[in-house]
Amino acid sequence: MSPDHPQIEIYNESKHGIAFYANRDLMAPDKPGEWVLGRDYSAAPTCATCHISSYMNPQGVFHANTHDVGERISWTLGPVIRTKLNLVEYEDGFKEDYPDTRELPTIGSEVVTTEKVVENETLVSREVPRRVARIVTWDQRRELMKGACRNCHNDTYIDNFYKHFDDLVVLYNEKFARPAKNFMEMLKTDGVLNPDAPFEHEVQWVFWELWHHEGRRARHGASMMGPDYTHWHEMYEVAKHYYSDFLPAVVHAAETKNPEMGRKYAALVENHLAREEHTWMKGLSVEEAEKLRSTYEARYDQ
Ligand code: HEC
Ligand code: HEC
Repeated sequence: MSPDHPQIEIYNESKHGIAFYANRDLMAPDKPGEWVLGRDYSAAPTCATCHISSYMNPQGVFHANTHDVGERISWTLGPVIRTKLNLVEYEDGFKEDYPDTRELPTIGSEVVTTEKVVENETLVSREVPRRVARIVTWDQRRELMKGACRNCHNDTYIDNFYKHFDDLVVLYNEKFARPAKNFMEMLKTDGVLNPDAPFEHEVQWVFWELWHHEGRRARHGASMMGPDYTHWHEMYEVAKHYYSDFLPAVVHAAETKNPEMGRKYAALVENHLAREEHTWMKGLSVEEAEKLRSTYEARYDQ
């Protein structure tokens, strides 16, 4: 719930949520013992169905043996720029996510891991050497999730879903998140922003909401089939705030340093907006406008 992780709202508006509420009496939630998708119920998936529960596959029952909610997740949808996630498991059961940009250790090798522990009522980091027992790559994690989907959908349908989902994450990363992060870093390097005062300038508030609120909702909406969340509460707002609040606030923050800095950033923003993915802001060409008009005419007869 709430602006930065509305999973239940997304689920409730998705076809899966609707199927669940319409068929609750077919879900066998009170069945004693195991609760296996494809054997004990098939009307709708719940959060647990997709993320942690057992399901049928051609070999029989796939027994979910953990309550690790990250086991079937391939992207990290939390930070400013999303990466795919590999999982490293150590001999003592300790697990660590490795972004796909970080080199994987080999099985059997020793790695110094960092663990958070509470000492004297404060959270401190402790270094612990551990031996690598198992590696689960991001696509193997995804495969575990797909096993649940396959009880109700065919492979083409599932692959098409992942194509849409991945494309949306990449679009968000490359069109908005990465350039916004670059602007913020440049402003720090140029001494406009003070890293110790994260909410001093308007641009810092806008940037924060851009990735932490709207940007997250977009990717969560797409990952769990909530179209309103993906579009209206998310990409629409990301775009609106990026163009009409964030970029002007970058220039404004630079101007507070001195007029020359303001001019430098005004030029950088103008250059940035000249990139192909942003030129639609300046209006459509005659051919594009005509194509749009005829599409609407064909679809809505108006
Ligand atoms: C139809 C299957 C399905 C259902 C039902 C479902 N999820 Fe998900 N969920 C997914 C998929 C797929 C992803 C994206 C996985 C990936 O990154 O590869 C995801 C991602 C997530 C994430 C994002 C993790 C991150 O990286 O930030 C959270 C949190 C989450 N789900 C919680 C929930 C909750 C809570 C519910 C129930 C209200 C729920 N899910 C219902 C399939 C489902
Ligand atoms: C228990 C059965 C079940 C499981 C498991 C399940 N789905 Fe579905 N899914 C449905 C039903 C039912 C619908 C609605 C179909 C309809 O409207 O005709 C649906 C619809 C969808 C849609 C269409 C959404 C839309 O708004 O049009 C997508 C995409 C989808 N599922 C993907 C997935 C993925 C990916 C997984 C696994 C992570 C998954 N489903 C797991 C039953 C399931």
